[in-house]
Amino acid sequence: MKNSSKILLAAVVVVAVLAIVYRAVNKAPSAELAAREQLLQILQDGGCAECHSANPVLPFYAKWPVAKSLIGKHIEEGYAVFDIMPFENSLADGDAPCEVDLAKVERSLSDGSMPLAQYYLVHWGSSITGAKEQIALAAVKELRTKFYPSPLSAPQFADEPIRPIPDSVPYDARKAELGDLLYHDTRLSADGTVSCATCHGLQTAGVDNKRYSEGIGGQFGGVNAPTVFNSVFNFVQFWDGRAATLAEQAGGPPLNPVEMGCKDFGEIVGRLSEDRDFVRKFTAVYPEGLSQETITDAIAEFEKTLITPDSAFDRYLKGDDDAMTAEQIEGYGLFKEYNCATCHAGVNMGGLTYELMGQRDNYFEDRDLTLKSGLTDGDNGRWAQTGVERDRYRFKTPGLRNVALTWPYYHDGSVGSLGEAITKMARFQVGRKISANDCGKIESYLEALTGEYQGRTLTNMNMQNENQSE
Ligand code: HEC
Ligand code: HEC
Ligand code: HEC
Repeated sequence: MKNSSKILLAAVVVVAVLAIVYRAVNKAPSAELAAREQLLQILQDGGCAECHSANPVLPFYAKWPVAKSLIGKHIEEGYAVFDIMPFENSLADGDAPCEVDLAKVERSLSDGSMPLAQYYLVHWGSSITGAKEQIALAAVKELRTKFYPSPLSAPQFADEPIRPIPDSVPYDARKAELGDLLYHDTRLSADGTVSCATCHGLQTAGVDNKRYSEGIGGQFGGVNAPTVFNSVFNFVQFWDGRAATLAEQAGGPPLNPVEMGCKDFGEIVGRLSEDRDFVRKFTAVYPEGLSQETITDAIAEFEKTLITPDSAFDRYLKGDDDAMTAEQIEGYGLFKEYNCATCHAGVNMGGLTYELMGQRDNYFEDRDLTLKSGLTDGDNGRWAQTGVERDRYRFKTPGLRNVALTWPYYHDGSVGSLGEAITKMARFQVGRKISANDCGKIESYLEALTGEYQGRTLTNMNMQNENQSE
């Protein structure tokens, strides 16, 4: 045999052995396990937690010089964008996984981006083979159907990452009626000039369309006001999540010195108590009388009615093929293709997780270049509540329902147009440069997210004013 043939033969043998070893270490989980256990095993074999958790268990060579800097960088970047432990724990315990985590894992496994190639090339058991991918995606689907069923969706859309807004959420009508009055009552502010509706007008899509809201005495806050519409679907309230419930949230503005400026709820109760008519109505529903607890409970009950079902997109999901234009349908495809439907998933298309603003490029550095505005307290995001460094610049993802009506955008209200908000999301959150064409289609799709309130399409008075002045 010639030398070259010997080398060739040796190479063939090596490849064959490698193939056998690869198959042996890369076994799909046993079909006898429950779907969630199979998925968990695929993620554990995939070493996902080595780069996506706070305290990874690392192999011995992770301490070697080159490996150390390489692995360290992957872990830092990986953990900054995604903590997989809550998801893995929910799989182990059989609890409801977060809907956004489901979407993220589904996405990263189906597009073949995870685990990183550098990782599976040295960890043979970790790569996601076709068989594993099938099992994992079927498990995601099963979990979604079990924990987040979408009965309103047409069968072909039952497994979409976004679900239609329900026609109503259960609420107490008598309490909501009182909450409606309180929501519009300026006696909740120290000088009687400001109500909730001043900054969250129902005729202006639940926002004020200002970069920062103006409270009593012409004072301005430090972050943009999100809409109250559909806020009932958020997992917590405020950009930094400092209120766990709507009632807790409603306790904030009245005492906020730059919003409504009261010294305590006693002051508000005192003013309202002078109104004998109101007190009679109130105690008929809340025999315990006026207090911070009952006032905020009534407002929260009212906010449960501020939902906007039946947008063109929701009607499309429910099976009406003509609800969206061809361009909007294409835009929805792009919205998923650009990874937008991972963080912006669920009923409200967001409001389910905290996410790092600028996970693929430095948003704040760029803002400083263009707007010459340094960092503010509001930029700290979730960090302000936890003091944990990982939470800095991390915000509750805003829901995108009615987003065409709720400009300006982002926590800092620095972005005026929807197109710019989309372009910046692609760059800073997804790490892609988006073409004007794709951006236009996504924008057109986001316009299909305007829903109905009390049976009529939600509008924004400020928009008409703007159009008239144009
Ligand atoms: C060697 C480290 C490493 C391993 C192992 C790894 N990842 Fe990642 N992962 C990263 C890095 C770094 C990023 C961010 C950059 C990128 O996407 O390329 C990332 C990004 C992600 C994202 C995207 C988050 C977002 O919102 O854009 C998801 C989801 C994800 N990984 C899931 C997984 C899953 C599931 C596994 C296991 C099958 C896994 N990763 C294994 C390092 C890793
Ligand atoms: C002066 C303007 C102003 C007033 C008055 C005001 N808000 Fe807000 N509201 C804001 C701003 C600004 C934020 C965002 C603050 C933050 O996240 O730190 C906000 C946040 C919220 C949120 C959270 C939404 C989300 O997605 O996180 C809700 C709900 C809300 N307000 C309801 C109310 C209610 C109810 C009242 C009356 C009791 C009220 N607001 C009074 C400006 C105002
Ligand atoms: C990694 C999670 C993540 C991904 C992926 C993502 N977003 Fe966002 N999105 C956010 C967060 C967080 C904010 C709030 C940022 C801030 O306020 O600084 C946001 C804000 C927005 C806003 C402004 C909403 C408002 O009311 O201020 C729009 C519009 C938006 N995203 C659209 C998109 C589109 C389109 C894509 C895909 C190209 C996308 N997002 C991808 C997390 C994400």
